[in-house]
Amino acid sequence: MKNIQGIVFDLYGTLYDVHSVVQACEEVYPGQGDAISRLWRQKQLEYTWLRSLMGRYVNFEKATEDALRFTCAQLGLPLDNETHQRLSDAYLHLNPYSDTPDALRRLKAAGLPLGIISNGSHGSIEQVVTNSQMSWAFDQLISVEEVQVFKPDSRVYSLAEKRMGFPKENILFVSSNAWDASAASNFGFPVCWINRQNGAFDELDAKPTHTVRNLTEMADWLLSSLG
Ligand code: LAC
Repeated sequence: MKNIQGIVFDLYGTLYDVHSVVQACEEVYPGQGDAISRLWRQKQLEYTWLRSLMGRYVNFEKATEDALRFTCAQLGLPLDNETHQRLSDAYLHLNPYSDTPDALRRLKAAGLPLGIISNGSHGSIEQVVTNSQMSWAFDQLISVEEVQVFKPDSRVYSLAEKRMGFPKENILFVSSNAWDASAASNFGFPVCWINRQNGAFDELDAKPTHTVRNLTEMADWLLSSLG
């Protein structure tokens, strides 16, 4: 990995815990927080993929809001406008994983420019990063809004080359979402998959360059391989 000149991270599920919303869901629907959060995230992703295939881009907030509406309907939970707003806002106040700040600090100290590349809109990414006081970590916040299509479309990944200013071979792509890691590898990035859930990797004819369990291990691996 001696050729790595910069790193781009996926946001949701990689740097930030999407299931931070469980608590807000529990407050409104006791005992249902976990089920809501899981179905909500799954539908949110499906809606981004489906909308890309349909050629009907909407921003990530809208896909997230629509997915919440579906989730509550599916689980038979009433959803008024105020609750809808409150839970959607919880997505802008996600917690970074406990290993995120320290790993980013070490990578930055090694002189590596760091970026986020996410399905989130510019506004969502900015708010999640600012609300968690993590703005110091990032040189580039890259949103799919620039190309109006979601990951895993290759046009999204190509934004990283443009914005980071390095060819893809020199950018390490880091994601805990196996489908995202597969697509990034297919695009031509070296990829580190953060296997946070101890799961199986997707079967999409593309494999990560390296697999670790968390960002601490990712920083250990990259920093030792840079020499
Ligand atoms: C993102 C989602 C897909 O941040 O995790 O792009």
